[in-house]
Amino acid sequence: MTVQDFITLLNSRRLDEIIQEYPISRDFLANFRLGTISRRLPLPQALEEVDDETLGEFGLDRYGVLINFSEFLETFTQTKDSSAAVSFLTIIGGFNKSNEPENIELTIASGEIISIVGPTGSGKSRLLSDIECLAQGDTPTGRQILVNGTELDDLQRFEMNGKLVAQLSQNMNFVMDLTVREFLEMHAKSRLTQSAGEVVKKCLMCANTLAGEKFSEDIKVTQLSGGQSRALMIADTAYMSNSPIVLIDEIENAGIDRRQAVELLAKSEKIIFVSTHDPLLALSADKRIVIKNGGISKVIEISDAERQSLEVIEKIDSTLLILRNRLRTGEMITEESLKIYMEDKLCGKYMML
Ligand SMILES: Nc1ncnc2c1ncn2[C@@H]1O[C@H](COP(=O)(O)OP(=O)(O)O)[C@@H](O)[C@H]1O
Ligand SMILES: [Mg+2]
Repeated sequence: MTVQDFITLLNSRRLDEIIQEYPISRDFLANFRLGTISRRLPLPQALEEVDDETLGEFGLDRYGVLINFSEFLETFTQTKDSSAAVSFLTIIGGFNKSNEPENIELTIASGEIISIVGPTGSGKSRLLSDIECLAQGDTPTGRQILVNGTELDDLQRFEMNGKLVAQLSQNMNFVMDLTVREFLEMHAKSRLTQSAGEVVKKCLMCANTLAGEKFSEDIKVTQLSGGQSRALMIADTAYMSNSPIVLIDEIENAGIDRRQAVELLAKSEKIIFVSTHDPLLALSADKRIVIKNGGISKVIEISDAERQSLEVIEKIDSTLLILRNRLRTGEMITEESLKIYMEDKLCGKYMML
């Protein structure tokens, strides 16, 4: 069901029928203080009876409530079987910005992590968008994306829209007055039949491990910082989302533990694309795509030799992290204090280069 389907449904069916079919609707209505509106009418008619002030409190008009409700239902009623639907994905090359052919056919199996590197403006986000919309030669790049080796017709593309791909910042478009715990519980309730409590606990722990600044489960979702809500979304995607493909666009500055985030997602047998300028992330992948002038110029399998250098990069990275924290807390960074953190010879050697 797409957002559009839900809009149609909400326009045509009585609220009590909607609630019976999608019990999670109760949470939405209660959240917008609409728990007492008439359920014998379809939503638009029921909303006629609500005064403007009550609605205005959430910055929404009646149409806004309809759209929010539809987005909410779309997010919280995703079916479970979509993850089984993708075992591999193929990118068939198109053209770079100078209209030269990419001459490439790259197949990626579920469980693989692909990093995407290249200068700013080279086309990393464009590649992610091509995957998101399952391009069929109809984007500026002319690329084609096949699912399990087959081309998709318009209807299949439309049906898969929103189900196949989780993009980490997307799922929270609707205005919600929920705490972190309530948000996760609601998600769990709509997605899982068993051990929802357990999963919520794991998600909370994981989101807090990923986030630079810790947060309590009682804080409102809308009050989270950028990094915190990214961390929450990553945990949510890893533990609850059914989307078989995850796209991550430059998370390095989001204030979260990037490496851990990718490792966590990697366990989930999804296909993960991560665009990045960060060596730590780039080398944590299985392959990396190099983008130049809008085209895929190279695909590099991460070798053992490269992977071995991860250890050094990690040490450099954690040293920088310590320095960043010292800066934040108002401490001085002197040569003396640097030495303390670079005592480790390996790390020290590389830091001096
Ligand atoms: N192969 C291509 N053909 C035409 N335009 C492209 C191509 N690749 C990228 N672009 C365009 O170039 C611009 C910069 O790309 P973008 O993906 O935002 O770069 P990055 O994410 O690497 O900074 C965008 O407007 C994008 O649509
Ligand atoms: Mg970009």
